[in-house]
Amino acid sequence: MNPVANFMEQQSLYERIGGDAALRQLTDKFYDQVFEHELISRLFKTDKDLIKEKQRLFLTQFLGGPQLYSDVYGHPMMRARHMPHTITEDDAVAWLQCMASAVSELPLSKELKDELFDRFPRTAFFMVNS
Ligand code: HEM
Repeated sequence: MNPVANFMEQQSLYERIGGDAALRQLTDKFYDQVFEHELISRLFKTDKDLIKEKQRLFLTQFLGGPQLYSDVYGHPMMRARHMPHTITEDDAVAWLQCMASAVSELPLSKELKDELFDRFPRTAFFMVNS
């Protein structure tokens, strides 16, 4: 493998999308959509800034960056943490639509946007509990 390709392979997706600045942008745009969404806004009862912050810490480690969420909140156990909320398949689809829209607004190449979005569908459907 040539040295440039090798370097690209070693960088995490977190680094390649632009690290913390990109995740702040993504979580801002994402929760602006979620809190306005006709189907899923009902689920979100916590302070918007707090949930944005938790998601930014979680996505940092989910995308291969530092373990910020675990440092503060312990093991992610995301499915268990979602259990108190009734989440249907339609909710997961809506969540993914909000994420697709937020990702599409980031200043990234199409390939990188696709790679980023592809990280979410499996996890989102894993949260379905009703
Ligand atoms: C399938 C659709 C999903 C729905 C409807 C949903 C809904 C929720 C709700 C209602 C909360 C609590 C918000 C509050 O405290 O008011 C929450 C928390 C959270 N969700 Fe989701 N979620 C979904 C998928 C995901 C996915 C795919 C991820 C990660 C990739 C994720 C990451 C988180 C995180 C990090 C928190 C904060 C957990 C904490 O309290 O520390 N969620 N979600």
